[in-house]
Amino acid sequence: MNDFPQYQNISDALVQDQAQELLKLQAEILERLGIAGEFKDTDTDFHTQRVGHFAGCLAREVGFGADIVHEITLTAQLHDIGKVGVPDHVLLKPGKLNSEEWKIMKQHTIHGHNILKGSSSRLLKSAEVIALTHHERWDGTGYPHGLKGQETHVYGRITAIADVYDALTMHRPYKAAWSHKQAAAYIADGAGSQFDPELVKAFSSVQHQFAALSKQWCAS
Ligand code: C2E
Ligand code: SIN
Ligand code: SIN
Ligand code: FE
Repeated sequence: MNDFPQYQNISDALVQDQAQELLKLQAEILERLGIAGEFKDTDTDFHTQRVGHFAGCLAREVGFGADIVHEITLTAQLHDIGKVGVPDHVLLKPGKLNSEEWKIMKQHTIHGHNILKGSSSRLLKSAEVIALTHHERWDGTGYPHGLKGQETHVYGRITAIADVYDALTMHRPYKAAWSHKQAAAYIADGAGSQFDPELVKAFSSVQHQFAALSKQWCAS
């Protein structure tokens, strides 16, 4: 037994504080790692955080619980971390990529996978699967592996919609920004070809939230 309970209480409180602190730190490290990954594409301010929030929003809409929603919100921010392995002449090219450059660009999924793989942490495993699979397509014509339908982990299918919505509505070195309406129409059109049709339904229900978030973050 502890002869000094007053100190035990202080120590319990400290442990609790530290657990809270660790959770906050964990979230912040993932967010900052995502920012590091996009640091070179200065045009894509807040892209990673927005994609995280959009993905969490879709996950909530299709019925995932708060823990998973939180997990996806954090880990979808790392979807493009592998772009750190893409040389600047490709990443920052103002125009269309040629086939050699495109091959290099597509490797960002594999680089991301390699950066994140092999962890026993649930969060890093989730980030790993998202980095690897966020460019797979429902019809099997995506990359890097051409996975079809539900062969692609649902986290990857969710992030695919969040990523494309954000990429379309933002300015890129290689394209102008699309309106919310154009982007939403593009996603609706991709149901069953590019995107999981069930998730596109969920997107239709929450798209006004995407639009609102997108505006708010652009303004800041
Ligand atoms: P990103 O700019 O973050 O775009 C993510 C995804 O959004 C793209 O994945 C694509 O599915 C969608 N997207 C973005 N802009 C457009 C668009 O104008 N039209 C259509 N239909 N879809 C669009 P994707 O195609 O696999 O590209 C992955 C990454 O490769 C892009 O990330 C970007 O960094 C780069 N990239 C793609 N195309 C070009 C290009 O023509 N020039 C350059 N410099 N980079 C490109
Ligand atoms: C890896 O390089 O770790 C993954 C290779 C692959 O999945 O194709
Ligand atoms: C396009 O501009 O149509 C293709 C660009 C992309 O897929 O990112
Ligand atoms: Fe990507």
